[in-house]
Amino acid sequence: MRKQRYFYPTKKTTLATRIFRIVTMILVTGGTGLVGSHLLYQLTSQNKQVRAIYRTSESLDSVKKVFSYFTDNSEALFSKIEWIKADITDVPSLEKVFVNVKVVYHVAALVSFNPKEYRKMRQVNIEGTANIVNYSIACNVQKFCFVSSIAAIGDSINNEVVTEENDWSIESGNNGYSITKHGAEMEVWRASQEGVDVVIVNPGVILGAGFWDVNTGQLFSKVAKGFKYFTEGITGFVGVTDVAKSMINLTESNVKNQGFILVSENISFKEVFTEIAKNLEKDPPTINISKTITSFLRRIDAIRSFITGEKRLITKDSVNSLHSKTYYSSKKIKISIGFEFTPIKSVIKEVCASYKMDY
Ligand SMILES: NC(=O)c1ccc[n+]([C@@H]2O[C@H](COP(=O)([O-])OP(=O)(O)OC[C@H]3O[C@@H](n4cnc5c(N)ncnc54)[C@H](OP(=O)(O)O)[C@@H]3O)[C@@H](O)[C@H]2O)c1
Repeated sequence: MRKQRYFYPTKKTTLATRIFRIVTMILVTGGTGLVGSHLLYQLTSQNKQVRAIYRTSESLDSVKKVFSYFTDNSEALFSKIEWIKADITDVPSLEKVFVNVKVVYHVAALVSFNPKEYRKMRQVNIEGTANIVNYSIACNVQKFCFVSSIAAIGDSINNEVVTEENDWSIESGNNGYSITKHGAEMEVWRASQEGVDVVIVNPGVILGAGFWDVNTGQLFSKVAKGFKYFTEGITGFVGVTDVAKSMINLTESNVKNQGFILVSENISFKEVFTEIAKNLEKDPPTINISKTITSFLRRIDAIRSFITGEKRLITKDSVNSLHSKTYYSSKKIKISIGFEFTPIKSVIKEVCASYKMDY
């Protein structure tokens, strides 16, 4: 392990340190997605020097949209970002991205429960992360923050609360997404062995504004359209603002080579749907879908996908995640850097307010 560098002392900040924070070039991958766009908003609001990668110019509109939820000055903040077109699976495209970079927030990933996307997920999540790690090592990056997931944390033992100490195991029947996020973490730990200080965050289900038609954004758009169903599954939820804030706080602290679960509360999908419905002035969901029914619907969906060639909407992995009851502890980050999470009711209220701005 290499010697402690001068990176961002948490308590005493000298003038030199403050100037260093401002002039340090920060790279963000995945900046056009949910977590990345909220992270970019917070970094630019703090006047940080930020470079971000994108793949299509249409995706940049989503970032501007997210900024507009928080400020009337979204164009000015957005223009502070230096955008470079690059793909994390395309090594040559990353060459100029890393020039002068000292801090990396690696957020980009393919999030999918579709078994057909497993190969693609390996390519983006594991090989893509290996590329970002290799450049970070070669360019002497000083701090590397990686967004992993609770999917890459080990299962609960005897129904006990899951902590960062729970070892992940391939034998536990993990899904493709979980395998690739774990594989990506292995690449990031390699960076730590090569002298880059790393922090890994493992968020639960992330709730945030701006991407209503994909991933967790659909929880809001479906309820808004009168979705009536719920499951009894329980898992950890966290607001995207807290995810971005904790990433910045950890990266700017002396903490290194550690992972942190990010979960505000462990609650049921029923509670989440009900709270969203309340805030969007819709009727709460009333039809409890058992695991048997969801599994039956999954088979019908598989046939539909086979006949039409369209993407599967319900997979074995998504069924399992909707019905399992797992509780996660965020004690470590609360103790390590005194981080306090926003209660999920407040997160949902805020996200629904943004939804109403759009529709
Ligand atoms: N959402 C959740 O509930 C959740 C929970 C736990 C952990 N996470 C983790 O949090 C991170 C961000 O998730 P998210 O919800 O923000 O996902 P998202 O909205 O789907 O964003 C994914 C981002 O990754 C980028 N990306 C994908 N493939 C890429 C490639 N080959 N090269 C460059 N960029 C690429 C996308 O760019 P394009 O815009 O070009 O597609 C987009 O900016 C991921 O690492 C995910 O595993 C998410």
